[in-house]
Amino acid sequence: MFNLQPEIRYIAPKRSARRSKLRMDKKVFERFDSDQVTDSMLQEASQLFSENYGVWGEQAAEKVGKFAKFGSRVRLSKERLRNDYLRDGLLCSYVRVTVDDNLAGNAFACRWTVNGKKICWVTQLVVHQDYRERGLAVGLLNELRQDDDDVYGLMSSHPAACLAAAKAFGSHINYIPLEFIKENAGSIMKASPIRYIREAKLRGSLFDPEDSSGLVSSVDTGFFVDHEEPLSALTRLRQSTDWPLGELLDGVEFILVLEVRRRRSSARSFRKA
Ligand SMILES: CC(C)(COP(=O)(O)OP(=O)(O)OC[C@H]1O[C@@H](n2cnc3c(N)ncnc32)[C@H](O)[C@@H]1OP(=O)(O)O)[C@@H](O)C(=O)NCCC(=O)NCCS
Repeated sequence: MFNLQPEIRYIAPKRSARRSKLRMDKKVFERFDSDQVTDSMLQEASQLFSENYGVWGEQAAEKVGKFAKFGSRVRLSKERLRNDYLRDGLLCSYVRVTVDDNLAGNAFACRWTVNGKKICWVTQLVVHQDYRERGLAVGLLNELRQDDDDVYGLMSSHPAACLAAAKAFGSHINYIPLEFIKENAGSIMKASPIRYIREAKLRGSLFDPEDSSGLVSSVDTGFFVDHEEPLSALTRLRQSTDWPLGELLDGVEFILVLEVRRRRSSARSFRKA
């Protein structure tokens, strides 16, 4: 039959022309222990971070130091990566993904134990701007996973990093057990051998019912990175998800702590251990 009133629908163009043109023929995920990471790998990681992570926010120069000029790129040297992210004596991992032999993203994580449970904390996650929104962050976090990990943690101002962590570590952002974060984040952070995690202050109504700032599950880390990009991601996400972690304010980041779901394992057993 002929349709005498054909339906005409507008098909929106893809978000970015560059994204649609990019081919990803060869995608390789690799994982390394601290002592396997060479200086040249760290040099590449330093460049990836310094060119793609983000820029300093308006208050950074005042709060962090003069070097953190508003709008200038947040940088990390390879020496700092080695000393802070792959510290001797910590069980640290480095994972990276190359696309057609170019470094497209990487992540660092360190592990420590609390009440007999192994905590794996993602200390850095960055994906090259040309390769975003193609599942690489989820892939990197998946690559970090070890069978004996009990809990995963992450602090990030980027809602996409939280989404990726929820997905890679076995859940969905809409189903994360906030109760587990409320009851365990403080003790896990306090036991961390990493100073910025240990010293971060929990913020939001999850931890303080009288907090009316709009924060829910956040940490004050004093990291005044510019929030323009994370805030626009948050606005986009709120159109399709019931975002559970609250608002994003300057100097604070979201915190996500997820227990590995195993048979006969529960939040209760974590607390009792
Ligand atoms: C955060 C970051 C690592 C995400 O990397 P990515 O490879 O683009 O993430 P993925 O493609 O794996 O996407 C994960 C989820 O986030 C969503 N997402 C990614 N970027 C998004 C954006 N800008 N806005 C809305 N949603 C976004 C994806 O659609 C996906 O959701 P889905 O699984 O429901 O489809 C990347 O944007 C980045 O490097 N940002 C700058 C550095 C940073 O803030 N790092 C986090 C600090 S720990």
